[in-house]
Amino acid sequence: MRYSLSLVAPALALTLILPTATSLVFGPYEQRPYEQQHWFETRQDKSQDPAPVKPASSLIIDTFRNPLHNDLGFWHGTGENLTLQHEPGSMRLFPTDPDQNFHTQFDVRDCFSLLPWKDQFLHVVFEGNEEFTVSLNEHNAECNPARSPFPGVPDSVQASRYIMRTRSWDPDHDDNDWDESLKHGKQRLPLKHRFRNDTRGGGRQRPAWSKRSELFIPLSHFRIDHKRVVSVSFTGFYTREPITLYRVEIVPDVPSPAAWNGYFTIPENLPTGQLILRCSRPNSFAFGIDDGQPQYAQQVMRILDEEDVRVTFFAVATGLRDRSTNFTRFYGEMLKKGHQVALHSNTHPK
Ligand SMILES: *[C@@H]1O[C@H](CO)[C@@H](O)[C@H](O)[C@H]1NC(C)=O
Ligand SMILES: *[C@@H]1O[C@H](CO)[C@@H](O)[C@H](O)[C@H]1NC(C)=O
Ligand SMILES: *[C@@H]1O[C@H](CO)[C@@H](O)[C@H](O)[C@H]1NC(C)=O
Repeated sequence: MRYSLSLVAPALALTLILPTATSLVFGPYEQRPYEQQHWFETRQDKSQDPAPVKPASSLIIDTFRNPLHNDLGFWHGTGENLTLQHEPGSMRLFPTDPDQNFHTQFDVRDCFSLLPWKDQFLHVVFEGNEEFTVSLNEHNAECNPARSPFPGVPDSVQASRYIMRTRSWDPDHDDNDWDESLKHGKQRLPLKHRFRNDTRGGGRQRPAWSKRSELFIPLSHFRIDHKRVVSVSFTGFYTREPITLYRVEIVPDVPSPAAWNGYFTIPENLPTGQLILRCSRPNSFAFGIDDGQPQYAQQVMRILDEEDVRVTFFAVATGLRDRSTNFTRFYGEMLKKGHQVALHSNTHPK
């Protein structure tokens, strides 16, 4: 447990959506780690024309040909201490912590508008770790990376919901069981069943399943202002399995559901909370207190009474359930005094 003070909205944002944004949002440029200073890089290859803005054509963002820049000519890399291994055509990430992230950017000096593609899909080709989130990040109001907050508002989706798994097309392949179960069951089978042994051909070759996975995420599933987009990020790695990225792009279509793609369909858009990064009342600020250390609770109460300020406590449920903390009675008294108590997760996982 720690007793940290923070502005309420960033605390929410960081906790729920993009924990690593702390250092991206706060602190002057000079104090940022080297990696994060790349956020401020301008276009490197000046001779390269900007991507054409034409509706209904795809937009290739990154095919990882260059270790430092994407296909749009802007920086890609990690804002955290995430080990990367680049080879022409791929970027392998070795996550050790869910807070780590990898970004591939649009124009940071300007607000990039994805409106021509707003009804299209973010398409990601990758291999490996499937337990992560994909985030589309909005620029700040001034489209200026030197102003806070930078980036502005992120919204993320759980990658595994959008994975299309493919297999090589083989007209001789007898996969009726698999087809039927998918058609009728309408649910994804566990991976192991989908890789059942193929004994045809005397063990000549393994079943021709592709190891690469693809994500198709409707851009409309990201609740941000699509007129001012700054980057696509990969973060929230829940396992340490490496992930290799091959391609990030925006495409107009998703393949029709068929046997070769496991009858893939786009999942429904789950509701997303709205991030609030500013107080709506002028000349005010929000004061949030995370977690709390029980031994300081009464002291904190006394100080808040003396200073006559109201705060939002972000309570962790495990702390509340532990009777020895006295937090239930403490927060009860704080509620009566007009403070706010909000949820800061059940167990405070990363
Ligand atoms: C980054 O990670 C490596 C390997 O785990 C470690 O040796 C190094 O100290 C870390 N650097 C920072 C700045 O955290
Ligand atoms: C597939 O074949 C391998 C190697 O022969 C064997 O070890 C494994 O148990 C088989 N799996 C299934 C599901 O039959
Ligand atoms: C528990 O919290 C209540 C409410 O703030 C307070 O009145 C009481 O003294 C606390 N008990 C202990 C043991 O700190």
